[in-house]
Amino acid sequence: MAELIVALDVNNRAEAVEKVKAIGDSVGFYKIGLELFTAEGPDVVKAVKDLGKRVFLDLKFHDIPRTVERAVKSGGALGVDLMTIHSVGGKAMIRAAADAAAEFGEGGPKILAVTVLTSLDQGDLEDVGVMGRTPADQVAAMARFAVENGAHGLVCSPKEVGSLSSSLPAGTLFITPGVRPAGAAVGDQKRVATPADAVRDGATHLVVGRPILAAADPVAAARAIRLEMES
Ligand code: C5P
Repeated sequence: MAELIVALDVNNRAEAVEKVKAIGDSVGFYKIGLELFTAEGPDVVKAVKDLGKRVFLDLKFHDIPRTVERAVKSGGALGVDLMTIHSVGGKAMIRAAADAAAEFGEGGPKILAVTVLTSLDQGDLEDVGVMGRTPADQVAAMARFAVENGAHGLVCSPKEVGSLSSSLPAGTLFITPGVRPAGAAVGDQKRVATPADAVRDGATHLVVGRPILAAADPVAAARAIRLEMES
């Protein structure tokens, strides 16, 4: 069964705790990203863990292998469940992240690789030296590269998840943001899919922010999304 992760896109710990409490038992997994982590640091991770929730720490590490290895160990010590790295950090960096995670055993963090940021188009890729590959080609190549070098899963758009999940080994995790329940506001997302479509295409985890955080009744919004996932 795919899991629902709520993107805790707020900028302070008090608001983060208030949101997690308000959403209550209907969601057990939260994504803490750069904005909240940079503002509040590990304390906000501890606060969400203390409320009995799992944490996806989305800091997209991209550094030398030793630094990434040590950052993953810090995340593991905090008890985070999912962490992100950039696949373009290279083989040794991906391997260092996976090896550091493995030290925590089965319950340790799982390493997710970002392939190509969805904000980049072909021109942007050429600017950084990726020639002769469309963004879709680059996503497919980097996804395979990351998984072959030890990443447990990938962050991917709902439009990519179908082809990636059918071509990568069973057990690979596929985390998809850009999910919108039928009829919900799309906001600044350009390529969206419904929860049912994303799950049918192979997503193992859906990341949803505003449709739950900004809902008048976040509990009802989360339940409706879970129902759509189960359908
Ligand atoms: O509010 P919304 O559901 O659009 O939030 C989606 C979350 O997933 C945000 O935290 C956003 O930064 C993240 N994300 C995304 N698209 C990507 C990668 C991450 O929307 N390609």
